[in-house]
Amino acid sequence: MAKDHWTSDRYDSAASFVPKLTSKVISYLDVQPNDRILDIGCGDGVLTTQIAQSATSGKVLGLDASESFISTARDKYGSPNCNFQHLDCTKLDQCPEAVDGSWDKVFSNAAMHWILRKPDIRSSFFQNVNKALKSGGTFVFEMGGSGNVAEVQAAATAALIHAGVPLEKAREANPWFFPSAEHMSALLSDAGFEVQVCEHEYRATKLTAETVDKSGGLEGWVKLMCAQFLEVVEEGKRDAAAKEICDVLEEIITRHEDGSKWLGYTRLRAIAKKR
Ligand code: BEZ
Repeated sequence: MAKDHWTSDRYDSAASFVPKLTSKVISYLDVQPNDRILDIGCGDGVLTTQIAQSATSGKVLGLDASESFISTARDKYGSPNCNFQHLDCTKLDQCPEAVDGSWDKVFSNAAMHWILRKPDIRSSFFQNVNKALKSGGTFVFEMGGSGNVAEVQAAATAALIHAGVPLEKAREANPWFFPSAEHMSALLSDAGFEVQVCEHEYRATKLTAETVDKSGGLEGWVKLMCAQFLEVVEEGKRDAAAKEICDVLEEIITRHEDGSKWLGYTRLRAIAKKR
């Protein structure tokens, strides 16, 4: 299993805004009281719990590859209709309960761009989601879309090359998959879904103490989110590479008219029905 970069404290400090910008995808999920919902890549369980509070007589199961997240989710949010399980979500079929065809809805927010990084697991991932759902069940998700945080990808790739990492290795270290709506629609159709909505939105996000790093600055965000990039840099050069990423980003993301800082998030959102 891949190294666990996440701890709830670091995530809460650098990215606690992620579950808060979710009104659209939650409206697409349209939770009903009886719903049985599988949440893929549930993180520390904040949003999973909110969903479970609407599925009052149903059931919600949150899955995540980070033991740290699952342990926090269980301690803070477990309830009779909301459970959490540690699972590498590229291998949903290793959890029989997940793929038993009993779920009304499968949901995912801001996780699939990490989960789907490796091209060879994508088609089995979507087939397993399809298998998880009841006939006519719905897969609703939001993730980074094409062009997401392009400035971060460019700054991190350049910093790795400056630290002596070959381009191909820098490319492989990129931990994200940010597909276009067209490509995602094709992946879903191939796995047996009828795609009802697949939309791409540019959602520049203003960095504030809340959206980027409660302790101030970009450093915490870069060290957490770009950990897999930085891991391939020689240890003695790692801090300098992180600093270069921050310095370049500060320059690019700052609006000169008022000094505000914006990251170029794009969102890919979909509603797909099991055929
Ligand atoms: C995202 O949610 O789009 C995202 C967050 C951190 C790093 C990269 C992408």
